[in-house]
This record gives sequence, C-alpha cells and structure tokens, in this order.
Amino acid sequence: MTSTDTFNALLLQKGDPRPSAEVVALNTVDLSAGEVLVAVEHSGLNYKDAMVINGLGRLVREYPHVPGIDLAGTVSESRDARYGPGDRILLTGWHVGERHWGGYAEYASVNGDWLTPIPATLDARGAMIVGTAGFTAMLAVEALEQGAITPERGPILVTGASGGVGNLATALLSALGYAVTAVTGRPDNAGHLEALGARSIMSRAELAARPSRPLLSERWAGVIDSVGGDTLAHALAETQTRGVVASCGLAGGTELTTTVIPFLLRGIRLQGIDSVQYPANDRERVWQRIGNLLTTEVLERCLAEEVGLSQLSQRADALLAGQVRGRVLVTPKDG
Ligand SMILES: NC(=O)c1ccc[n+]([C@@H]2O[C@H](COP(=O)([O-])OP(=O)(O)OC[C@H]3O[C@@H](n4cnc5c(N)ncnc54)[C@H](OP(=O)(O)O)[C@@H]3O)[C@@H](O)[C@H]2O)c1
Repeated sequence: MTSTDTFNALLLQKGDPRPSAEVVALNTVDLSAGEVLVAVEHSGLNYKDAMVINGLGRLVREYPHVPGIDLAGTVSESRDARYGPGDRILLTGWHVGERHWGGYAEYASVNGDWLTPIPATLDARGAMIVGTAGFTAMLAVEALEQGAITPERGPILVTGASGGVGNLATALLSALGYAVTAVTGRPDNAGHLEALGARSIMSRAELAARPSRPLLSERWAGVIDSVGGDTLAHALAETQTRGVVASCGLAGGTELTTTVIPFLLRGIRLQGIDSVQYPANDRERVWQRIGNLLTTEVLERCLAEEVGLSQLSQRADALLAGQVRGRVLVTPKDG
C-alpha cells in the first residue's frame, strides 16, 4: 500500500439532524498515525454502529469520522514489535469507531494494544459474524458462570433474542448445555431461535411491563438482558434465589426502576457487562473459547445479511427499528 493508492471508506460529516454518510476514496495519509496498519476484510453492524451513523448518544465528537466499532483482517504494516505483516487480527471496542476511526474502510490505523489474534478456529468472516455482539454475549455467559450458574441450576432467559447479542448468547449458552428461553417481539423468528438451540420462546410482551410485585415466581437461574428498562426489572423479579442477571444493553430503555427486594431476599447478583474496555490481556482467551464453542454452521445461521459500505445507512435504520435478525457482516471492499 503506497500513500497514493486509494481505498474505500464510509465517511460521516457533521449534519443536522443526522450526519451525512458517503463512500469516499481515502489513502493512508488520511488515517491517524496508529502503530499498526490493518487491511480490513470485514466489519459488522452493531447497535452502537447504528447509533453512530444516526448521530445518536453523542458517541462521536469529531467529524469527519469513519465508523465501525469492529474490524478483522491482516496486518499490513507495523511499528509495534508484537505484530508483523500478515498477522491475522481482530479488534472490538476501545472506542474505535467512536473516538477513533474504525472498521468501515479497507484500511485502519490502530493502536497495537487494541488487537487480538484471530483464533485458529475462526477466520475474519467468522470473527466479524461474532463481533462485539458475540464477544459481549460470551462475557455475559462468563458472568453467569462466575456466579456458579451451571446448566443444572435451571433455565436461562435471553432477552432481545433476535438481535446480535441475543442470537450469539442463545447459541453460546446452548453449546454449553444450558436451557435457553428466548424472548422476542417477533414471533416469526421462533423457528430461527430454536435452530440456534433455544428450548422455548417467550413473547416480549410478557416481560414488557414493570413487575406487579417486587418478587414474582422464581423462574430463571440466569438472565442475559439486551433490553434494559422494565424488561430488566421484570426479569429481576422472576430470577431464582442466588441467580445472576447480566445487563448488556438498552435496546428497550436506559431507565431501571426496581426495588432492592430481589437482592436482599433472593441474593440475586446484577452484573454489568462492558465489552469496550474489557482487559486486553484476557481477550485472547475469551475469543479462543468463542471459536471453540461455535461451529461454522451456527455462525452462518447467526448471519442475517452481508452488505457493502453504501448500504450501511439504510441497514442501520432497519437495525434501530428492530427489523434486523442476527448479525450484519460488512465488507468494505464492496463499497
Ligand atoms: N455492554 C456492552 O459492552 C454491549 C456490547 C454490545 C451491545 N450492547 C448493547 O446491547 C443491545 C443489543 O445490541 P445488538 O447489537 O444485539 O442490537 P440488535 O441486533 O438491534 O438487537 C436488539 C434486540 O432487542 C430487541 N428490541 C429492540 N427494541 C426493543 C424494545 N423497544 N423493547 C424490547 N426489545 C427490543 C429486538 O429483539 P426481538 O425482536 O427478538 O425482541 C432486537 O433485535 C444494545 O442496546 C447495545 O447497545 C452492549
């Protein structure tokens, strides 16, 4: 790659009410001076990417901006002794795609500390079908394990099950032998969720209201929640004694109105999940585990669609409208 060669990138410019997005030709001198230049094969579309593309949540402060919180590909050039040309790497989090230019470009210039080797059991495509969504799902599964929630303890509730985190959580839990109850607002997706391993399907409406009492019948040994709001409050009231609830997301709201009663009378643990700043020195282990648990067949089942950069604005809107099922794989070279 010479400084005169150009490559595709999705560039956001400040706009009102939302940023404008255009596929442009950049060259490497346009990129920030990171230590590692990565040839990006794939990225993904996460909920946060959709927020960035729509200018929501004040996630991006400086424009122009290249979004894409995930990327996977090959090291092209490196000034970091840990990486050399040809190394197969992935990157999720570290505010890439928010504060730093991200994966919606054929090249990205990044900090070596942010990189994780792609496990031997995955390729760049598989790694980006997993993406931040699947990494988060694995961290949530590990939060249940750290709270001694084994498959024998009882069923696990997965909310927002048709989404990226929900699909991957369902698949990972099923691979580990847990009985998953998948919550969805889209009954048409029931067959898909069962194919990922869900043992039963529950309507989103059943959990959508604030619980009528602080404690309801004990149902769930654990919960992986992407929705937040009253859904999370309801799930807390139905969690078994000494159960663990992993709070991952806010697809249904950021407010949480609950009481301390589930914590005091049932010893329930509410564990927050932060995939962005998860310690670098433990990421390779987590990714190895993901690669060992998910077969190519399961990963392809989690894949909703494959898009180029020019389709991202439209797909971001669809994702925020709750119309995407599973993961969206992005291939920057397709423009
Ligand atoms: N903590 C972290 O580090 C981390 C990392 C990744 C993602 N997240 C968060 O996790 C959440 C899910 O991310 P994602 O990438 O999986 O997004 P996604 O693909 O859009 O999935 C969200 C799912 O939630 C359900 N949903 C949407 N709107 C809802 C509403 N108003 N009420 C109830 N359910 C609703 C839908 O599933 P159904 O149609 O099946 O109901 C939807 O598919 C987001 O809030 C994201 O910001 C957090």
